[in-house]
Amino acid sequence: MGVLMTVLAVLLSTTVTVASQQVVFQDINSQKNYNDQAENDKRPLKFNFSSAAPHIFSSFHGLLKQWPNTFFPNGHSIVPCEVPAYTSLYHGRRDADLPPSPEWFGFDVEMSYGIMGSDRNSHLLTYQTTRPVGCLYFDGESATLMGTGQMDSLNLFIYGNLTGPPNNGHWRGLFDEYSRATNICKWVQDRGLGGLGWGVEGIVRMNAGFEMIWCNFTSPSIRLMSKLNVTAPLLPAGLDQASYEPSEIEGVKDIRIDEVEAQPSNSYYPLPTQTHNPDQSTDPPDPPRPPNWRRESEEPFLESQTWGWFESATWHYGSSAMGPGRGETRVKSLTCSFLSFYSPQFAEQHLARFTSEKVKLNLTEDGYWLGPGNNGTRERGLNELMIRRRSHLLHNISQSDASIMNHAAERALRNLGYNDRNEPHIRPTTGCSGTDWSNIAAEIVQRYSTRLRQLESILDSGTGINTTNQTAFQHWTAMLRHNTHALLVPYFEYPTDPRHTNDDSWSTSSALARATLSRCQFHYTRLLAPDQKSYLNSEETLLKSAVEEVLGNICRTIIEVGFGTEREWFRHFDTLKDAIELDAVEMRRNVLRWKEGVEELMAWLGWVDQWTGCENRCRWDETCFIPMWPFMWLQTEKAGSHGGMNEEPPHFGPPGPGHPYYGRPGYGHGRRPGPGGRPPPFFQDDSQLWEPRCVKASYML
Ligand SMILES: *[C@@H]1O[C@H](CO)[C@@H](O)[C@H](O)[C@H]1NC(C)=O
Ligand SMILES: *[C@@H]1O[C@H](CO)[C@@H](O)[C@H](O)[C@H]1NC(C)=O
Ligand SMILES: *[C@@H]1O[C@H](CO)[C@@H](O)[C@H](O)[C@H]1NC(C)=O
Ligand SMILES: *[C@@H]1O[C@H](CO)[C@@H](O)[C@H](O)[C@H]1NC(C)=O
Ligand SMILES: *[C@@H]1O[C@H](CO)[C@@H](O)[C@H](O)[C@H]1NC(C)=O
Ligand SMILES: *[C@@H]1O[C@H](CO)[C@@H](O)[C@H](O)[C@H]1NC(C)=O
Ligand SMILES: *[C@@H]1O[C@H](CO)[C@@H](O)[C@H](O)[C@H]1NC(C)=O
Ligand SMILES: *[C@@H]1O[C@H](CO)[C@@H](O)[C@H](O)[C@H]1NC(C)=O
Ligand SMILES: *[C@@H]1O[C@H](CO)[C@@H](O)[C@H](O)[C@H]1NC(C)=O
Repeated sequence: MGVLMTVLAVLLSTTVTVASQQVVFQDINSQKNYNDQAENDKRPLKFNFSSAAPHIFSSFHGLLKQWPNTFFPNGHSIVPCEVPAYTSLYHGRRDADLPPSPEWFGFDVEMSYGIMGSDRNSHLLTYQTTRPVGCLYFDGESATLMGTGQMDSLNLFIYGNLTGPPNNGHWRGLFDEYSRATNICKWVQDRGLGGLGWGVEGIVRMNAGFEMIWCNFTSPSIRLMSKLNVTAPLLPAGLDQASYEPSEIEGVKDIRIDEVEAQPSNSYYPLPTQTHNPDQSTDPPDPPRPPNWRRESEEPFLESQTWGWFESATWHYGSSAMGPGRGETRVKSLTCSFLSFYSPQFAEQHLARFTSEKVKLNLTEDGYWLGPGNNGTRERGLNELMIRRRSHLLHNISQSDASIMNHAAERALRNLGYNDRNEPHIRPTTGCSGTDWSNIAAEIVQRYSTRLRQLESILDSGTGINTTNQTAFQHWTAMLRHNTHALLVPYFEYPTDPRHTNDDSWSTSSALARATLSRCQFHYTRLLAPDQKSYLNSEETLLKSAVEEVLGNICRTIIEVGFGTEREWFRHFDTLKDAIELDAVEMRRNVLRWKEGVEELMAWLGWVDQWTGCENRCRWDETCFIPMWPFMWLQTEKAGSHGGMNEEPPHFGPPGPGHPYYGRPGYGHGRRPGPGGRPPPFFQDDSQLWEPRCVKASYML
């Protein structure tokens, strides 16, 4: 209550001050006029935090990007996808066999070797697709074998509930990878949506990097390219690796020359002729552990193997505060069939989310933010709003909701032609408008994410501006105007004579403002409106409405600030009439209102991943670290000053002593969980996520 009272008190005293200072205006008519129309514009900008539109938009924008899906690990979306012909796929094993089915592929060799390398019988199998291959993608950190929520969408899809089949009192949920893989492949097969050489043949997921469950290794859609025994000679016992010097450059050159002579560069390597082993995969007893969980001091490459896996995941970060970046481009999502548990058709889930967020985030029944409350700062409140998507779970998806999603996926895959076994080529645009929704989302985020942040920072610097110093104030206003003008220019025409224009033009309720808003909000989707008789399926309709709502709020905000800025500019600095003397208090109030509006817009959008990054550009031998399972955190001393973590965590270590032993199944043999119990806690410490830092490969060593 205290904060509210203070706010009210400030507002009241401000109002009184304004009233007593109105005499400063020289032009009485203009002043009255200004006060009337400006009344409209004095209301704070409000955003509907109960809407799912920003979540749909961000979930969509983040597809197949490591960075956004690490910040928002609980996937809500499911999208048909395609892997192009001649894409390399890797499979690591700890035996010399060919893989049974189903098994796993990594898109980066570093991931497959990361799991299965440094063993006494490590093998690396390289495959290539021989044709475009259909797949189904589950977003979020959907291949993370611990925590709450990451696997929910896949479990719901397969089992209709979050827990899967009963397990005799043992908590096995996250370890039942082969069961999940077998069941999702069976789902595809049972519905006639894929088989050997046609339709859906793989399931794409993410942990540190992207992987694919491959349903059947006898498929003609893949060809084994090489099978290598990558077991490395052990180091002599007791060798101190730190004292090990890399060989001289010249020596390295000599070796290369020898190799070239031994095998002329124009001879093709022979393709393997081994036939496939059609066995069904089973749960093997001896699970491999992620490399960062292992301590075999005689394996020579364990450290570079660890670093390599981590580093390859960073290649697919996608967009962040550090720039646009590439995601996992070897998988193409067929976005006109984008399915999401954020869709309003999952009403129970929506209601449950709103009910809990209303209390947690202090929202009104209409979804508007009430403020930080009496035990929080505005900054903290906004931050909680901004990251709200991170804690979204699918706990209120009922069995019948899960089956709605199942049917939607089946229908979407059929529409794409995945069910046609005689026509292995997918028809990615059948039944779709052809709109490139991914590009649209990327363009919106690229155009607005940094500009909104700049706008917020200009407005922030303006709240303390000395308006008595005309020069300083004019300079600041011009800077603000440059920013808002750049945002508005595609949608906006100046009135023919802005210097003679009545101030009304700059009101947010003016015809000019309304026309500008409409052009801005429907910039991408005007031709998809009903009056154009365009056909959109339900998935594209969902994307269209999310894009329009997201742009609607962005556009409303930039028009409010941009038009207000134009008004002040023409009133005070560029006018044929006598310049109206500045009402400093009124101006400060405007600037504060605009700043708060932009801040709340940013919180509503929730693009926190786009505003988080390593502060400085990392050096060439460094990369920007965020915790991605199984690389959960850095050792405290080496990572920086952050405290409060485990006493003796290994570099990139598992989360704490006493943690149940388990490993990553897939890429070969699987694992057995420790004795039952709860899932291990996952988000023990988010600080390394919110403050990413550059790390060197040597942190691994
Ligand atoms: C806010 O969004 C929700 C969900 O889309 C909607 O039901 C509600 O009517 C909206 N509230 C307002 C005030 O528009
Ligand atoms: C692979 O190489 C290692 C090390 O040379 C060897 O011990 C192992 O037997 C080899 N595996 C097979 C299947 O040949
Ligand atoms: C893979 O396909 C082969 C050939 O049709 C079949 O015999 C085998 O059962 C299939 N494996 C699985 C796991 O579906
Ligand atoms: C979850 O689904 C599985 C498989 O459909 C079923 O065996 C199990 O009983 C369900 N669990 C609960 C708690 O409903
Ligand atoms: C949502 O799920 C939670 C946890 O299972 C439950 O406590 C709550 O009652 C559910 N809410 C609704 C509206 O069903
Ligand atoms: C919600 O915000 C209002 C206004 O700031 C405040 O009075 C109230 O205490 C807040 N409620 C909670 C639960 O934080
Ligand atoms: C205020 O917030 C702090 C930190 O979130 C918390 O520890 C404390 O219990 C809260 N106090 C009250 C009265 O809610
Ligand atoms: C604001 O600027 C005026 C004129 O430039 C100057 O006289 C005054 O001291 C400044 N006030 C502050 C608080 O800096
Ligand atoms: C007014 O601001 C300008 C630009 O910031 C500065 O150079 C100048 O010294 C200020 N004038 C006064 C009187 O403070």
